[in-house]
Amino acid sequence: MNGEFVVTPYGVTGDVDYDQLIEKFGTKRIDRTLLDRIGTYGPVHHMLRRDVFYSHRDLEWILNEYDKGNRFTLYTGRGPSGPIHLGHLMPWSFAKYLQDIFKVKLWFQLTDDEKFLYYDNLTLEETKKWGMENALDIIALGFDPKLTNLFLDTEYIKTMYPTAVRAAKKINFSTIKAVFGFDNSNNIGSIFFTSIQTVPCFLESIEQGRKVPCLIPCGIDQDPHFRITRDIAEGLGYYKPALIHAKLMPSLAGSEKMSTSSKTDTTIFTVDDKKTVKRKIMSAFTGGRVSVDEQRKLGGSPEICSVYQYQSYFFEPDDDKLKQLFEQCKSGKILCGECKGILFEKVWKFLENHQAKREAAKEIVDQFFVRD
Ligand code: TRP
Repeated sequence: MNGEFVVTPYGVTGDVDYDQLIEKFGTKRIDRTLLDRIGTYGPVHHMLRRDVFYSHRDLEWILNEYDKGNRFTLYTGRGPSGPIHLGHLMPWSFAKYLQDIFKVKLWFQLTDDEKFLYYDNLTLEETKKWGMENALDIIALGFDPKLTNLFLDTEYIKTMYPTAVRAAKKINFSTIKAVFGFDNSNNIGSIFFTSIQTVPCFLESIEQGRKVPCLIPCGIDQDPHFRITRDIAEGLGYYKPALIHAKLMPSLAGSEKMSTSSKTDTTIFTVDDKKTVKRKIMSAFTGGRVSVDEQRKLGGSPEICSVYQYQSYFFEPDDDKLKQLFEQCKSGKILCGECKGILFEKVWKFLENHQAKREAAKEIVDQFFVRD
């Protein structure tokens, strides 16, 4: 088949088989029963219906506790190494959805330390600057300032450090090597870092002085960190964090994770102007045929089309409309140029609005930040 693939927070190689990843990581699939249960709290998000958020750990437990009146807290994060693209917004808008339907607090970690430690070409000043820039995109998504705590690791370290060292004492170097694929050449900060990503799972518990359940919406590539957290949580006197995992966002070039570091032309940044967005979408990889004639006759392949995937993951929440698009493509009724045009209109409408909110966020950013 497709052969080997490896998923860690620090690199994804090979063709990821997401079903197999569930087996490899030992997570659970979000099944029909669980989707129906989520539907009792609010609308079932299209990223759940379409298997974008497709895997979990202990989500039933989180809902059981919630039903008993024991509300959970949400935790997610961002490694600030550059500008934000559409793929980044996906899990965060999902976190916003969870905040909206459950009315719970969100802790949002900006790991300026992590990106400094892992990237040779970034200074700590730069990762912190990106953290503040990225915060604007996060706030622009509309999180409730009363229910959202954003923080930069280097600014919140005094609060986090006692828990970080307590966590670090329970983690062996051999575990780090095995989980992240590290060797003796990795710098010692990167070896320690997972204990810093662990702490926010417990920040609400620390603040309230009692055990509070925590749910982490994240890309499945982050799961290895939290496997370690789950192994040590109870020994530290907390609940194991629960997780809900997303598949990794494809780029406009096709399958692989939409990345800031790969070719910028296949990645749409939130600050791109209209012309740039248009150029990128118009040159996207599609499932089209070699000629118009052939496509009219044989139809296209939405299954492998990045334009269709953008509609499905992000821009067309209506299932009937998505199905219609799928069928029009399959039957050769719609050609790639037209389809790209439709996507462009939607993306630009979204981005124009996002950019205005991003500007407005500059005025309210302080309402979101917690500092030592
Ligand atoms: N390590 C993540 C990254 O590089 C950032 C992050 C920190 C995170 N805490 C998190 C992501 C919790 C998801 C959930 O992007």
